Amino acid sequence: MLSAISSSRLILNNPLLIRVLRFPIPKLPLSTNPGSFSSLSTAAAVSNNAAGGGRTGAVSPSLVTEELQQRIDVNPPKGTRDFPPEDMRLRSWLFSNFREVSRLFGFEEVDFPVLESEALFIRKAGEEIRDQLYCFEDRGNRRVALRPELTPSLARLVIQKGKSLSLPLKWFAVGQCWRYERMTRGRRREHYQWNMDIIGVPEVTAEAELISAIVTFFKRLGITASDVGFKISSRKVLQAVLRRYSIPEALFGKVCIIIDKIEKLPLAEIKKELESVGVLEEAIDQLLQVLSIKSLTELEEILGDSGEAVADLKQMFSLADKFGYSEWIQFDASIVRGLAYYTGIVFEGFDRGGKLRAICGGGRYDRLLSTFGGDDIPACGFGFGDAVIIELLKEKGLLPELGLQVENIVCALEPGLQEAAATVATILREKGQSVDLVLESKPLKWVFKRASRINANRLILVGDSEWQKGMVGVKILSTGVQQEIKLDELD
Ligand code: HAM
Repeated sequence: MLSAISSSRLILNNPLLIRVLRFPIPKLPLSTNPGSFSSLSTAAAVSNNAAGGGRTGAVSPSLVTEELQQRIDVNPPKGTRDFPPEDMRLRSWLFSNFREVSRLFGFEEVDFPVLESEALFIRKAGEEIRDQLYCFEDRGNRRVALRPELTPSLARLVIQKGKSLSLPLKWFAVGQCWRYERMTRGRRREHYQWNMDIIGVPEVTAEAELISAIVTFFKRLGITASDVGFKISSRKVLQAVLRRYSIPEALFGKVCIIIDKIEKLPLAEIKKELESVGVLEEAIDQLLQVLSIKSLTELEEILGDSGEAVADLKQMFSLADKFGYSEWIQFDASIVRGLAYYTGIVFEGFDRGGKLRAICGGGRYDRLLSTFGGDDIPACGFGFGDAVIIELLKEKGLLPELGLQVENIVCALEPGLQEAAATVATILREKGQSVDLVLESKPLKWVFKRASRINANRLILVGDSEWQKGMVGVKILSTGVQQEIKLDELD
């Protein structure tokens, strides 16, 4: 019914209007549309219930049309998306690849509520994500937030399950996240994220395994090392510099968040921010010098070869070689990432064409659990959004063709055979075949057109003379071959 509406706006009910309207609003043309009228009544009844009103059926149609109408924007809220069937097919295809790769690596799927306690996402380091939170007070006066990411929920669940978990955990999730973000290509106010996390492994083998999973995913989609790369560094590099200048550990998260803004803010501003949290000028200069390093040998020259930072990164590159993805990765000391909880190796997937924002990102977060009052357990993981990858696939011409595909279309040739057609559809569905049953009396021309739209393999015609013999007409649509088949031989 909605498709019949030519205007970009339509009339729906608004629970508030039940209480505030003192006068009838003019009737709008849509209220005469029987289809939209029935949906109006249902929606009105629901809102009446939500407002503490009586039974669902208690709202009279005249109340609906005269008092409960307003025009609403039919577009989804800014930065959010509808998923009509063609977009939903693409989303399901993408998610099935996320799931399949996770399965290949032996990960188990988990999920958490989209709505969490706000406190879970409040960290003191001045992260951007904090200012982008969709948060509010619920009816029980609790501060809650729509999750902007999945990692804090995962940490919460690990603490809650405690000793009942046998480590290491290899968990993955695909979930919707909300960030009140400035909209750019591939950045939205809601997005889905694929996360893979390994809990309980302190060795760099865990990070190497995670990047291997992402590379496997890219390869499945036809993306190569010349399309995409990973920039890798370690927060221990910054830590080493801060230690050298006796800067307290407590400042570490804050410094990382300031440094992460280096490409967005003028250098003078970055320096000012670093000074304001107590980093001395000399240390700032060394930090900035270190951040410009793009080779491990150079890093080793500055930091020496005894520190953890260099050792971890060397091991990471050596493992990448053994996994077979060396050509995908490069060392880049400027990668710090914008979340305060990372403690070790950090990485970011980027588009070599330079047109898109980060495709994915992650790292080690060995101390997140203690910030929630739990015992720390070594952990690392990544988040991979659904939006940038679709942009990249479009750019590379790698989007799959995903038409609707229903195996059979079943149609009664006369209105009196509609029940017989329902029986045929049931027989086929019980044998695992998908069926689009034509529910109204339609001319054959229409049926053929529909069969082509849904990419059906077979057209099953239920006609009187065949039905009398316990048979149906079956037409293979690719060849045009038609035959009569007994009902009990239909499969
Ligand atoms: P993140 O870097 O904030 O990390 O986000 C990970 C990925 O989510 C980004 O690289 C991008 O693909 C996608 N993403 C983030 N924000 C948006 C947005 N507004 N619109 C579209 N896509 C977006 C995290 O969230 C960490 N929790 C990842 C992690 C998991 N670290 C360890 N485990």
